[in-house]
Amino acid sequence: TRTEVAVVGGGPAGLMLSHLLHLAGIDSVVVDHRRVAEIESTHRAGILERDSVRLLVDSGVSDRVLREGHEHEGIDLRFGGRSHRVDFSTLVGASCWLYPQTEVFVDLHAARVRDGGDLRYGVSDTAVGGTDGPDPEPTVTFVDAEGRRQRVVADLVVGADGSRSICRALVAGRRQHFREYPFAWFGVLVEAPPSAPELIYARSERGFALISQRTDVVQRMYFQCDPTEDAAAWSDDRIWAELDARLAGDDGFTLQQGRVIERTVLPFRSFVQAPMTHGRLALAGDAAHTVPPTGAKGLNLALSDVRLLAEAVERLLRKDDDGALGAYSDQALRRVWRAQHFSYWMTTMLHRVDGASEFDELRQLGELQGIVASPHGAAYLAEGYTGWPNG
Ligand code: DHB
Repeated sequence: TRTEVAVVGGGPAGLMLSHLLHLAGIDSVVVDHRRVAEIESTHRAGILERDSVRLLVDSGVSDRVLREGHEHEGIDLRFGGRSHRVDFSTLVGASCWLYPQTEVFVDLHAARVRDGGDLRYGVSDTAVGGTDGPDPEPTVTFVDAEGRRQRVVADLVVGADGSRSICRALVAGRRQHFREYPFAWFGVLVEAPPSAPELIYARSERGFALISQRTDVVQRMYFQCDPTEDAAAWSDDRIWAELDARLAGDDGFTLQQGRVIERTVLPFRSFVQAPMTHGRLALAGDAAHTVPPTGAKGLNLALSDVRLLAEAVERLLRKDDDGALGAYSDQALRRVWRAQHFSYWMTTMLHRVDGASEFDELRQLGELQGIVASPHGAAYLAEGYTGWPNG
């Protein structure tokens, strides 16, 4: 098969790129080793920045987010036993949307199918070659879902293949930046009504907890845990006791309880690989960077990457602009590092570190107090959370 852009990875980043390229009249083939049903049933984050919503709607993917998502004009920061609202609309005139990543995937997949996109899910033995050297011939080979060997030759390969990217290693001269954290998140999906109209980010002596939502009858919650925690060892009662203890206060707030329908321990790390391009290869999304989940930046950053990348690919393939990919890497990385800082900051401001001194704990409370007591402090958080303007 001959195409213009071979996209490795058919998650939200790869599909959105393929969609934007299609709008620009550029052909692509998307390959992914997972099956569609597997991606649709893997729970991920649930918050979209303002510009992520605009991209979905304005590019013609779907306006379902506006009908079935929930607009949130703020969050609660909870510490010292009470909630402090950070009001995005009065602080920065922006909002975000609760709309799970799985729904974003469903919408993007439907849009590509609607527009006749070439999507190959359930493939195996994917290999990428020919992306650099004096005479590149970017090629992706794989075995398709029917067991047939396939070879796609393209002008460019895009690695949108997530945190276990196979494309990442093809960037010669790459630098990798890591930060590990001494904790993880215990994520649960529960059958219960919502406990609050907006998200609650709670700091407590027992560690962080996050109360998020999904529907009228299913909610998503997380709490800080040890990275080696065995999720299966936790009974429903023990999970609720832990969440209750972390949300406890004297303001009458109560958590709505119900059956726990899913429990998982989620990885937690910061990672950046630079540059994000090499020869005729470009990386986008988690293939090039991972953020810790506090603040829900991962999907938003991936969508921001591919919005920039689609323009760069158009300049490369239609205007012979050989500098376009390098400029994409530089521009994307500026936002990546901003988001890395934001995610790290939200994480360290709200999580408990074993062995922290009293000074550390009181300093952390002082930091939270400084954010909620100052419109300038709160605006900094609101701006990062709802998303910095594109550019
Ligand atoms: C969700 C996940 C996050 O990491 C976050 O910061 C907010 C919400 C969620 O899954 O709903």
